[in-house]
Amino acid sequence: MKFCVLMGSPKLNGNTAELTKPFVDELKRNGAEVTYITLADKNIKPCKGCYACQHVSGEYGCVIDDDDVPGIINRMIESDCIVLATPIYTWYCPAPMKALLDRHYGLNKYYGSAKGSLWEGKKIAIIATHGYERGYATGPFETGIKRFCKHSNLKYMGMFSVRDEDDLASFQTESAVNGARAFARMLLSRE
Ligand SMILES: Cc1cc2nc3c(=O)[nH]c(=O)nc-3n(C[C@H](O)[C@H](O)[C@H](O)COP(=O)(O)O)c2cc1C
Repeated sequence: MKFCVLMGSPKLNGNTAELTKPFVDELKRNGAEVTYITLADKNIKPCKGCYACQHVSGEYGCVIDDDDVPGIINRMIESDCIVLATPIYTWYCPAPMKALLDRHYGLNKYYGSAKGSLWEGKKIAIIATHGYERGYATGPFETGIKRFCKHSNLKYMGMFSVRDEDDLASFQTESAVNGARAFARMLLSRE
């Protein structure tokens, strides 16, 4: 199975990256192909809302072609499961991930002369880190992603999250590391 892990924290070696490490390691140990993409160091321009992509059949078709998004979108299309690894920032995800989520538009052809989807049926999973208690902290983001999956005909696979109680140390505990590994095995085992 091919995974595309989108790591959305501005800290490339922060809490979210730390929690994602054992997850990626477990996927690889079980034979999965993993592409790990950090978003904070990429050039991700915001969607213009021009709808031009909605009139381009069979390809992404975004008019913005001078940033890193077309390359990232290709890696997403090549994968079976896309993992959003993110800290919760102001009840959602940090800006580069939100900008990339908005740029999904050309993957769904719903609003123009083009028809179909370039990613229907793909799996989406979340790895989150957060300061507040789990349900309170992650509710808005998880709800948003669940609705996004329904809208785009993607399969929502669930979320693994750990609370930041002691910076990096919170994500190095046995329960955090084992939980991340178990989440990876769950994704590999489910159709
Ligand atoms: C700008 C900013 C906004 C945050 N907003 C939230 C929030 O809305 N809810 C929450 O539970 N934690 C929030 N946090 C805490 C982070 O989610 C938490 O510390 C996380 O583990 C940071 O991960 P990182 O090191 O990968 O960036 C915020 C932190 C920052 C810096």
